[in-house]
Amino acid sequence: MKNPRHFLSLLDLTPGEIRGLIARAGELKAMQARHEVYEPLKNWSLGMVFEKSSTRTRVSFEVGMTQLGGHAIFLSPNDTQLGRGEPIEDSARVLSRMVDVVMIRTFAHDRVRRFAEHSRVPVINGLSDLLHPCQLLADLQTYFEHRGDIAGKRVAWIGDGNNMCNSYVEAARQLDFSLNIACPPGYEPSAEALETCGKHCSVMRDPMQAAQDADLVVTDVWASMGQESEQAQRRDIFTPYQVNNAIMEQAAPDAVFMHCLPAHREEEVTASVIDGPHSVVWDEAENRLHSQKALLEFLLVGK
Ligand code: CP
Ligand code: NVA
Repeated sequence: MKNPRHFLSLLDLTPGEIRGLIARAGELKAMQARHEVYEPLKNWSLGMVFEKSSTRTRVSFEVGMTQLGGHAIFLSPNDTQLGRGEPIEDSARVLSRMVDVVMIRTFAHDRVRRFAEHSRVPVINGLSDLLHPCQLLADLQTYFEHRGDIAGKRVAWIGDGNNMCNSYVEAARQLDFSLNIACPPGYEPSAEALETCGKHCSVMRDPMQAAQDADLVVTDVWASMGQESEQAQRRDIFTPYQVNNAIMEQAAPDAVFMHCLPAHREEEVTASVIDGPHSVVWDEAENRLHSQKALLEFLLVGK
């Protein structure tokens, strides 16, 4: 493929393209519900490189490829040469001569960038330490489904300024919503993301203030994959940032709650919230499938 389009960040798409994907994801969801067979990717293969664990990302990409008529291959460092030190550049060169699209989940974002630089086929970021753009496609689809356009709405991010938070910062710019981020000192989102997209975002310390009149309240784990050794220390630091009923009471009465999952009940979110009336987390998880089918179709057949 000449000059393949990659999806490493939400900034790799125009706002119009993101809106197009959200709309298309809704159509594909409806087609699937009618059991319509739609196989534009017949004989196409997706390579899925996972250097971190996954439930949703793995299953949604694999099932998505199957539903579109294609095939997905799960590649983990435990049983590929990547785990034995083959350079990421060489892996990219080889895999991209065999498969038609690659999804990679890894640690340093630079690995995703280097993989894409040496790939002949589109590369999708399935989560790096810096960003989780596929999750944002699902979150946006879910917001649109439940409440309509997110432009002009107020979103509260409460907790760690992690990969999910950075992708929310990018989404705020791309879809023109305002984002209040409440996090402890030292746990802010990436300075680069804030610099590029910062006019839509405010970083503050008080979670109650961040949640004030929010249309969407979002959180994520306090220790991401790769930060397991900091778990106990982070639990102490983040305790005031739990999303609980008091936080949701500050938000707009019809606010929705999202969490990319996996969640730790009674840590970053109480059961009363994640299992309560504001929560849309199961639709959010399901929409990984539909929004990524739209993404694969867009990257491979240009729809
Ligand atoms: N939200 C998400 O990416 O989940 P997994 O880690 O299970 O893929
Ligand atoms: N921030 C979390 C997201 C998991 C889907 C992590 O990186 O582990």
